[in-house]
Amino acid sequence: MQALDVKYMVLPDARSDFPFFRDNQRIYLDSSSTSLKPASVISAITDFYLHAGSNVGRSNHQYAQLSTQLFESSRNKLACFLGCSADEVIFTANCTDSINLLAHALALGKGDHVVVSPLEHHSNLLPWLSRCRVTVARLDQNGCIDLDHLDSLLAADPARLVAVCHASNVTGNVQPVRQICQIARARGALSLLDAAQTVGHIPVNVGQIDCDFLALSGHKMFGPSGIGALYMRRDLQASMHSYRYGGGMVNKVEQGDVSYQSGPGRFEAGTPNIEGAIGLGAAVDYINGLGGQWVQDHDEDLERYFLSQIQSVRNIEIAFPVGPQHLPIFPLVAVGKVDIGFVSRILSDRYDIALSSGYQCNQPLYRNSGINGALRVSMHLYNSREDIDTLVMALTDLQDLLA
Ligand SMILES: Cc1ncc(COP(=O)(O)O)c(C=O)c1O
Repeated sequence: MQALDVKYMVLPDARSDFPFFRDNQRIYLDSSSTSLKPASVISAITDFYLHAGSNVGRSNHQYAQLSTQLFESSRNKLACFLGCSADEVIFTANCTDSINLLAHALALGKGDHVVVSPLEHHSNLLPWLSRCRVTVARLDQNGCIDLDHLDSLLAADPARLVAVCHASNVTGNVQPVRQICQIARARGALSLLDAAQTVGHIPVNVGQIDCDFLALSGHKMFGPSGIGALYMRRDLQASMHSYRYGGGMVNKVEQGDVSYQSGPGRFEAGTPNIEGAIGLGAAVDYINGLGGQWVQDHDEDLERYFLSQIQSVRNIEIAFPVGPQHLPIFPLVAVGKVDIGFVSRILSDRYDIALSSGYQCNQPLYRNSGINGALRVSMHLYNSREDIDTLVMALTDLQDLLA
């Protein structure tokens, strides 16, 4: 009990890192949609505009050199953070873009087979559905991918790729990704992790997980929007098809003779989101500065507290099982037929509580469970037990409406 109180004491510091909360009592419970940005990320972007401001990898003047150095140093920071080499990190626009890049790079056709899980965000479903045959591995009673079923699926019907989320953006359940990647490899399939929800919450080390590809979005890990990354194992890169063609990706072009760069450059044609990448580098610095364990302890404290307090609210339930490893993400459903979009609007207008309502780009999961969307509470390090108290108080006020 004392340990929980100690963690609680630390919280105001994290909140004060985020200018969004300056001089107000806002309650932001929509971090799975996008995280807020600490002051250090905002100033890294402003500083780039003020002091460097130039394109990368193209010109030789001092400002272009500085831009290139800042941009590549962000790639290095992200690579160290993920436990890979800088030449395995391709900058993209977001997690969706990373997955689409991969779908293209693999040159999948109608005859190819990809295995996903029922938990996939549309971003890790539609790129496969639009190209090839997709099958879905079952979940176990904890809401985690059933490893035996995955193995038997792959044994009966070999696949090019197993593409699954590291943690669900609806249920919050963290998946047994190391075992999933092992099973995929043993059955001759490549593995992609959609780590949009986990990076920034729990350690994500591609070497330890042993995945072949990993996709993430900067804006969900305290960075700006418009920047993401795809980790692509180095030895697989040469066999991958380029996604776009244009400036910045070649060594030499002559009539009919093009020599492409090796490494990330081949997949990053055109001027990249330079300020976005620099902001993402600053976000990595911010997370490293907090210490991974602090974030995890804080998440666990919020989860335990939320689970203990939400029980007191009548006419509301958590829509899916909470598994053994879980992020502070909870989809709530009303027992009655009230429009949850309406409830979220009341929470916003009357209590200044921001959360998501609807399907969270995960319609198959909801529809197959007969659930018409949920109010999703998703927390991060700037949230506190007081935020949970206020949410519980507001839902208690509304409990008759939820019946
Ligand atoms: C698990 C998961 N995958 C992919 C995405 C797509 O992220 P983005 O819209 O940043 O590309 C999201 C966004 O919510 C997500 O939660």
